[in-house]
Amino acid sequence: MKIQVSSSADAARSDLFAVLLPEGRALKLDTEVGKTAAALLRRKEWKAEARATLLLYGDGGNERLLLVGLGKDKELDAEGVRRAAAVAAKRASGLDIKTVGLRVDSTKVKPAELGSAVAEAITMAAYRAPAKRKEKQDDDFKGMTFRLVADKQAAATKGGVERGQVVGAAANLARELGDMPGNVLTPTVLAERSTRMARSAGLKSRVYRKKDLERLGMGGILGVNRGSHEPPVLIELTYQPKRFSKTVCLVGKGLTFDTGGISLKPSANMEEMKYDMCGGAAVIGAMDAIARLKPNVKVVGIVPSTDNMPGGAAQKPGDTLETAAGLTVEVINTDAEGRLILADGLHHATKQDPDFIVDLATLTGACVIALGHDAAGLYSNDDGLTRMLKEAGEEAGDLAWPMPLFKEYQDDLKSTVADLKNLGPREGGAGTAAAFLSRFVGDHKWAHLDIAGTAWGARDRNYVGGKLASGAGVRLLVQWLESLG
Ligand code: BES
Ligand code: MN
Ligand code: ZN
Repeated sequence: MKIQVSSSADAARSDLFAVLLPEGRALKLDTEVGKTAAALLRRKEWKAEARATLLLYGDGGNERLLLVGLGKDKELDAEGVRRAAAVAAKRASGLDIKTVGLRVDSTKVKPAELGSAVAEAITMAAYRAPAKRKEKQDDDFKGMTFRLVADKQAAATKGGVERGQVVGAAANLARELGDMPGNVLTPTVLAERSTRMARSAGLKSRVYRKKDLERLGMGGILGVNRGSHEPPVLIELTYQPKRFSKTVCLVGKGLTFDTGGISLKPSANMEEMKYDMCGGAAVIGAMDAIARLKPNVKVVGIVPSTDNMPGGAAQKPGDTLETAAGLTVEVINTDAEGRLILADGLHHATKQDPDFIVDLATLTGACVIALGHDAAGLYSNDDGLTRMLKEAGEEAGDLAWPMPLFKEYQDDLKSTVADLKNLGPREGGAGTAAAFLSRFVGDHKWAHLDIAGTAWGARDRNYVGGKLASGAGVRLLVQWLESLG
């Protein structure tokens, strides 16, 4: 699949010409089908409501015109463009054609942003689950070329298209890792995949193995790993540009399968717990994009990874462990394991003395109950960081919603035998989990994104969503990091 920027004349010569049109706008297209479509619009037989489609044929079937509605122009944003572009691409891919011209008849979204939105949406709409690829083709739009019209400001549009392809591919990498089953994507394989990505994108990468974790006293990761036959890892990816004034650490939960451990989960839907590494996948995806887009900010990606199994040596409720930060934890429930591995990951991040730490994790079912499948829960100890991340999420179409971090939550984590326990009450479970994490970031500005409701099974938005992994977090992080430098 290719995405290019072209003139109106070249785009119009494609097998299919698609026009994304706001409601109430007249169609200007000087061809036979163009005139037919314009007449239908004038008579209001078709209204350009958001994502409505109309496919028309002319010239004995040799000319194809697809109209896709954008809805009300004054409400149009990049997300509206993404969704409509994905609708156009999917409709085109059902037609057994090669070339598709795309024209967006609105100036509401500026050229660079528009190019990025279109390219990102088409790239993400082409995503197909890894195991299904052998059936037919690599992606859903194989062999197709999309030509986005830019008669004015072609350079800005082209820059946007390039960015959109990078960001879309990075999100797809995170989705692919997420959709891989737990027997295939072990911590060792996750480390291999991230090392491979680092090599091709030009990042420094380092993998800490079990012996290294022991040396660093990472009792959280090692405690969770006790019941497993697969060794744990901690992945570290570094992007360091020549010029930078800020350093950011990204930390992602890389739990390759969560059975709950000795506090075993019920069987229903347990297969979904292969997605428990999606926070880690988001960090790896974001690092891929950052390495290629090269903003002036230093970024270190950290992914602690293990599975959570109930083997004979597994940790038990009531066990205590010592984290790398020196804080001891009483393990009340072995299914609250994400916070244990993140405790060590976050502490590792503090050693970089970063300006900001952001972690991403499929941390709690409670967050899904609170927010559903539309936005990640956003917890932070800094209001400025909260604002930046919320805004970046809105621009990127990758939402996060601010949630409170009450200091009273700490009272719920008091243990009689250790510095803290890993379980609070059921009520407010996403907040106490975040409160637990806050103990491991020192004085650093930090935010936590609970992506349990958005990493898979998210709302269908044409280019993303549905049962498969969504790449949640990748686009939000890239948008924010670009704004820092
Ligand atoms: N990985 C799960 C969280 C999860 C559950 C994400 C369902 C998405 C859907 C996490 O490790 C977990 O098991 N959390 C427990 C915490 C509880 C034991 C305090 C939960 O949410 O039930
Ligand atoms: Mn769990
Ligand atoms: Zn988990």
